[in-house]
Amino acid sequence: MPRITYIAQDGSSRVVEAPVGHTVMEGALDNDVDGIVAACGGSCSCSTCHVYVDEAWIEAVGPRHAEEDFVLEQGIDVRPNSRLSCQIDVTEALDGLVVHLPAEQAE
Ligand code: FES
Repeated sequence: MPRITYIAQDGSSRVVEAPVGHTVMEGALDNDVDGIVAACGGSCSCSTCHVYVDEAWIEAVGPRHAEEDFVLEQGIDVRPNSRLSCQIDVTEALDGLVVHLPAEQAE
């Protein structure tokens, strides 16, 4: 199973295995990774699954889609590498993916 590393603002990290076909958001929730709220359950409408894709993985992950861009406008401290983790599907190509957790999620 692909491994995903979630790095918190304090530098602590969690490495989890997530099945192909799940999302990076589900990988966090299924493994009790703090910092991902996912209030809408992954329907791309809340922005509380916000993550920053590590610079080394931006190309592999790909760009945000238009609806995600719109929802991220509700996010806090949105940056060029911001993504909604519910919109990133886990694939074998993303084995080793690193994402950084924001200091806080939107309400
Ligand atoms: S879980 Fe709500 S936008 Fe991702």
